[in-house]
Amino acid sequence: MSVTVRVPAKVNVQLAVGAARPDGFHDLANVFLAVGLHDEVTAALAAELRVTCAGPDADQVPLDRTNLAARAAEALAARYGREPAVHLHIAKDIPVAGGMAGGSADGAAALLACDALWGTGAGRDELLGICAELGSDVPFSLVGGAALGTGRGEVLTPLDVGGTFHWVFARASRGLSTPAVFREFDRLAEGRAVPEPAASQDVLDALAKGDPDGLAAALSNDLQPAALSLFPELAGTLAAGRGAGALAALVSGSGPTTAFLARDAASAREVAEGLRASGTCRSVRVAAGPVPGATVV
Ligand code: C5P
Repeated sequence: MSVTVRVPAKVNVQLAVGAARPDGFHDLANVFLAVGLHDEVTAALAAELRVTCAGPDADQVPLDRTNLAARAAEALAARYGREPAVHLHIAKDIPVAGGMAGGSADGAAALLACDALWGTGAGRDELLGICAELGSDVPFSLVGGAALGTGRGEVLTPLDVGGTFHWVFARASRGLSTPAVFREFDRLAEGRAVPEPAASQDVLDALAKGDPDGLAAALSNDLQPAALSLFPELAGTLAAGRGAGALAALVSGSGPTTAFLARDAASAREVAEGLRASGTCRSVRVAAGPVPGATVV
């Protein structure tokens, strides 16, 4: 018996970051958009917990108990007083360590898959609570669509989106560690006051209207200077995408994946071609959003 869950990647159309909190996390105003790049997690009954992974970046995925999918199975099993005896197989298409919530997506998907496989019948709020314990971006991977994340990003308010946004994503030659990017943010912020993070009304309005030009003018990522400081070559990728006709270019989350907003599907294909020809990234994908969150298939 097995259950498969399909789960999307995310891009942050706004990532406003506050000062470091005493617990080391940062308060955020994080506007998430789920986009059509997916992982699939299959949970099957097994003698003991085991994780396997297939896909272009599979060799970079940890298969031990640090994998968020394994931690999700353990967390759900512990709550329901059972053994996490499950084989989790991840079919991975979301960039690894890329700033697109790939690990978080696998955590949310494994949680939903184990819930269905074991018939635990946990409610939506309980699943969201476990997601928030697993990581700041995990609740959004369960919910999908578009949402404003506050707190450390885990407190979600769903957002209306009035159309489809077309994106191009450029995978970088190596990954970036999210904690390292936040540490670099703190280093760059030393000696200056960091404002309280707040959602931009222009971003929310552009999403609600489905207006790509409005979104291009308003989107922002406070982690971008930190990601560029650790990975200066990303500036060349951003410039190449702008030169190829993107309405806007930014680092996705903590990076190093770069995201390019296009006016429509045809323009996205042109931007993708230009980026491929530029030789400034490892691979290029086109994806649109919003799309639904983790779903049993
Ligand atoms: O919540 P998650 O485990 O995904 O966060 C990974 C790391 O990113 C944290 O350990 C922390 O260093 C950083 N982080 C942060 N502030 C947030 C979210 C993440 O500093 N709001």
